[in-house]
Amino acid sequence: MMTEKEQSRQGSTFIGTANHGFGQHAQEEIRRLFEAGTQFRHIIPAEVFIFTVQEEKEAVIHKLLHNEPMFLRHMQPVDVELDWDGSMETLQQFIGRELKLESGLKAAVQIRKTEQVGSDISTTEYKRAVDDVLIKQWSIIPVAKDADIIVSIFLTPDKAYLGVSKPEHNLSDWSGGAIRFRKEEGQVSRAKFKLLEAERAFGLDFQQYRSALDIGAAPGGWTSLLLERGMKVTAVDPAKLDSGLLRHPKLTFLQKNAGEVKFQPQSFDLLVCDMSWSPRQMAKLVKGLLYSLQTGGTAIITVKLMHKKPFQAVRELVEDLSPDLALQKGKQLFHNREELTVFLIRT
Ligand SMILES: C[S@@+](CC[C@H](N)C(=O)[O-])C[C@H]1O[C@@H](n2cnc3c(N)ncnc32)[C@H](O)[C@@H]1O
Repeated sequence: MMTEKEQSRQGSTFIGTANHGFGQHAQEEIRRLFEAGTQFRHIIPAEVFIFTVQEEKEAVIHKLLHNEPMFLRHMQPVDVELDWDGSMETLQQFIGRELKLESGLKAAVQIRKTEQVGSDISTTEYKRAVDDVLIKQWSIIPVAKDADIIVSIFLTPDKAYLGVSKPEHNLSDWSGGAIRFRKEEGQVSRAKFKLLEAERAFGLDFQQYRSALDIGAAPGGWTSLLLERGMKVTAVDPAKLDSGLLRHPKLTFLQKNAGEVKFQPQSFDLLVCDMSWSPRQMAKLVKGLLYSLQTGGTAIITVKLMHKKPFQAVRELVEDLSPDLALQKGKQLFHNREELTVFLIRT
C-alpha cells in the first residue's frame, strides 16, 4: 500500500487530446499551468498524448477546469496502465481486476484505440465486452448520455490505459471530445456545426438572444442556426446567401462588404463573425461595427491561425478588440480546422 506522500510524489497521469496538428500547443498550455517536471509522451503524434503531473488527480482536474487550455479538447485520467497482449479476454480480466466501482451506477464506456491496434475487433465490440464485465461485476447500467461516470479505455498495440472520471471532468463528455451533430437534410453548410458546438462549449443559450449580426455569413449555416433559435438576423456578405434562407421573415441580407454597412447604435445583442481572413484585418472590420452591439452583448468570432502561431494570434486579436470587447474564453472546437473560436463580451 502506497502512502499518500508517495502517491503525490508519483503524481497523476492523464491522456490529453487536441485537434490533429495542435497537440504541441495543448502541451505547451499544460506545461505553463503546472510546475516543472510535467512529462509528456505521444500516443498519436500531434494529437493524443499522455501527461504526468507531479500533483494529485483531483488537484490537476481542478486546475485544468478552472484554467481551461484552448487546445486541450478532451482529457481522461489514467488510473491504471496495463501491458496488454491485444486480446479481448485479457482486457476483460484487467477491467474485472483493476476497477473499483460502486454498484448500480450509470456508466458510459468510451473506447479509443490507435490505428495499429487493427480493425478485426471494432471499438463497439470492445465496448460491449467491457459493458458485460461491468454489468456482471457491479450491476452497472450502460448509458451513452447522462452517465454518473465515464470509464475511458485507450488501447495501443501493447498497452491499455484505464481511467474512471465524472463526465464534467473530461472537458467533454464525448469520447475524445469528438462531438458529432446529425447532418440535416438541406443543411446549408458544415460551418453550422462550429456554431452549434460553440453554443455548448461556451455555455450559451441562443434562445435568450433577440437580434444578431452575422458578418461573413454566406452561404448561411450560422445564419440558419440563429434563425432557428428565434432571433432576428442581419447577415452581411458580398457573396450570396443560400436561396432557401432568403425568404425567411426574420432575415435581413445585406450583400455587401462588412466595411460598407451601417447600423443604428446598440441594435444587436449578438455578433458573430466567421470570416476566413487574416485575424488583424478581420478585427479591424469587427471593431468598426462594435457600436452596433449592445453593452453586455456577446460576440463569437472564428480566428484563422494563419502562421501557426496561435497564442500570438489570439493575443493580438484580444488587444485589437480591447477595451470594447473582453475575452471570456477561447477554444479550438472539434469542428474548427486551422482556426479557433473566441467568446467575448461587449464592455
Ligand atoms: C467561411 S465563410 C462563412 C461561412 C458561414 N459562417 C456559414 O455558416 O455558412 C466566410 C465568408 O466570409 C465572407 N467575407 C470575406 N470577407 C468579407 C468582408 N470583408 N465582408 C463580409 N464578408 C466577408 C466570404 O465571402 C465568405 O462567404
